[in-house]
Amino acid sequence: MAKNKGRKILLLPGDGIGPEVVSEVKKILEWFNKHKSLDFSFEEELIGGASIDANKIPITDEVFYKSLESDAVILGACGGPKWDNLEFSKKPERALLKLRKELKLFANLRPAICFKQLVDSSTLKPEVVSGLDIMIVRELTGGIYFGEPRGIEPIENNQRKGINTHSYTTSEIHRIAEVAFDLAKKRSNKVTSCEKSNVMEAGVLWREEVQAIKDKLFKTVELNHMLADNCAMQLLRNPKQFDVILADNLFGDMLSDEAAMLTGSLGLLPSASLGAKDKNGKIRSLYEPVHGSAPDIAGKNLANPIATILSLSMALRYSLDLDKEADQLEEAVQKVLDDGLRTKDIISKGKKEVTTTDMGDAIISKLK
Ligand code: IPM
Ligand code: MG
Repeated sequence: MAKNKGRKILLLPGDGIGPEVVSEVKKILEWFNKHKSLDFSFEEELIGGASIDANKIPITDEVFYKSLESDAVILGACGGPKWDNLEFSKKPERALLKLRKELKLFANLRPAICFKQLVDSSTLKPEVVSGLDIMIVRELTGGIYFGEPRGIEPIENNQRKGINTHSYTTSEIHRIAEVAFDLAKKRSNKVTSCEKSNVMEAGVLWREEVQAIKDKLFKTVELNHMLADNCAMQLLRNPKQFDVILADNLFGDMLSDEAAMLTGSLGLLPSASLGAKDKNGKIRSLYEPVHGSAPDIAGKNLANPIATILSLSMALRYSLDLDKEADQLEEAVQKVLDDGLRTKDIISKGKKEVTTTDMGDAIISKLK
């Protein structure tokens, strides 16, 4: 019987390796429709550089409204050298930032898990990373990414000045802290909150307000405050001390790239960007791999589709109420890794190197 009828998924492949990795997700959605009688309806639209080439803007209103109406949006990647010289406001990345901001996706969840099969792919010693399971909660709609004033302006003596503004309000800090504490309760009950309260007022406020939320609503969760630079160091020294890491937009961006490398490859990390629940209990959401468009390997069938496939699994869990299917998909990824199949980014001695499409096919074969 058709379950879940009419769940609308919008696929935004974007640029570089985006189309290749999203196309593996499409194959999996088709498989679920055919073999599990699910009724996903999915559409594909242009975003980023691909949209600039076709429509002169990184995202059209039509695509923007489609994303508003979807149950989940899955995005590949935005950007590439071809569009690097465009004026800032016209760059491919603006599409992504517009979606995050206007869909109010303030909570970005970036799990960094070191799969046992890939312990040797990390540049760190196996004993440092094996069993690693961190969740980075990154604030996504505030801070220096969106603060005003911003710009580049001429000043005296033929000089120019670049300006960005970093600010956070109490309520912005509270809502992201609550997400982090809620997640910690379902995990190892520990939050490490990062800021630079030694040099930034916004960091002082961040620390105080995170503590206030803990004291008021999450008394049983362990909370540690850590300066963001120290956190970057601790992630390399002893990453297993962390459970949930809470950070603002910019520190979260950097710490999540670093955490990705602990797991062996940026090609493995999925992410979910979530908004608040509306009155019907529905949340807006966008799912994307943490990696970018990787122009150097684009179009060569070399990219690792696992980060995007695991992003689909997060969508099944957080937006589509399909936990069982999410488990099944994650197990399929594990089985393929058990079989020794590896894309180029995670290849090691004695393993079999496969292409993007082979990896997708192999994962589907394990769903059966
Ligand atoms: C990320 C990316 C983006 C960001 C870019 C592509 C705008 O690095 O999602 O981590 O900086 O947020
Ligand atoms: Mg980033």
